[in-house]
Amino acid sequence: MVDQAKRITLTSRAFHNDQLAHFYKELSDLTGYEMVLPMNSGVEAVESAIKLARKWAYQTKGIPHYQAEIITVEGNFHGRTITVISFSTEDDYKDGFGPFTPGFKNIPYGDVEEFIKAITPHTAGILIEPIQGEAGVIVPPAGYLQQVREICAQNQILMIADEIQTGLGRTGKLFACDHEFVRPDMMILGKALSGGFYPVSAVLADRQLMSLFKPGEHGSTFGGNPLGAAVARAAIDVIKSENLIQNSAEIGEYFSDRLAEIPSKHVKEVRGKGLLIGAELKQSAGGGRRFAEALQKNGILVKETHENVLRFAPPLIIDRETVDWALERIFPVLTMP
Ligand SMILES: Cc1ncc(COP(=O)(O)O)c(C=O)c1O
Repeated sequence: MVDQAKRITLTSRAFHNDQLAHFYKELSDLTGYEMVLPMNSGVEAVESAIKLARKWAYQTKGIPHYQAEIITVEGNFHGRTITVISFSTEDDYKDGFGPFTPGFKNIPYGDVEEFIKAITPHTAGILIEPIQGEAGVIVPPAGYLQQVREICAQNQILMIADEIQTGLGRTGKLFACDHEFVRPDMMILGKALSGGFYPVSAVLADRQLMSLFKPGEHGSTFGGNPLGAAVARAAIDVIKSENLIQNSAEIGEYFSDRLAEIPSKHVKEVRGKGLLIGAELKQSAGGGRRFAEALQKNGILVKETHENVLRFAPPLIIDRETVDWALERIFPVLTMP
């Protein structure tokens, strides 16, 4: 980041960018998708994916003009723009911000039958998180992603995975979809794509789909800028060269096993994959907030999601010693009255 800041940081895409082509190539090589659309924030990449799905619906699938529907799931979190909160099922995110964008239909998460029922000739795609992060680290039933993939293929529907939170090693695989050997038509990345140093997000897809965007139809001043691209390249390199995916799988299992062993009367379940771990508290625990605050006092940052779930998402570089250090501080909090 510092090196690049001394060279070139922002150019219009029409001019010289010494980093972008390398970023495209390295991200494409890592993920196996032919094309990369670089954006900045996560939600901007989600919006871009929705636009591309709609374009595909009209140009490729032949859905009548402006009647495309995208299926989304209850408890989703994809960001906070007007369109994206339009299909949120959380009042907190929506209240006071209407009117909302039409064209979305919510179904229960993890329910294949409901997905099949929701499909119409106007369905363009389904947008899902392979593990719901903000909803409280909700892991869908085994086989769900695979079934969604098959149903999408059978019905000519795009499978769009939001891996902004789960992607790039967080769950112990490159993508959370890899746990079920599923390759979505579109993959959305953010957060870890820049190692947390700079806003960089991306949509990944193969050429046939991505090239439906023609020059000028979609873009963003800073998307793919040299500084962001350089930071993302460094982050990708660290993920690979420091074996962070493997580390996430191994340390994640160690961490969640030890967490589950804590004799806490408050914890109902410990779940998750890799280093995305949720400890769901019982109703009697009185909400996650007091636990999160007590943990903070002990030097551990944990966010309570959906009131009753403590989400542990430590850096992917964490090692056993640090996990042990953390467990010593988590133990008294989870066993408090
Ligand atoms: C799954 C998922 N999608 C989208 C977003 C939105 O990303 P951003 O805040 O960068 O817009 C988030 C952020 O938490 C997320 O977890």
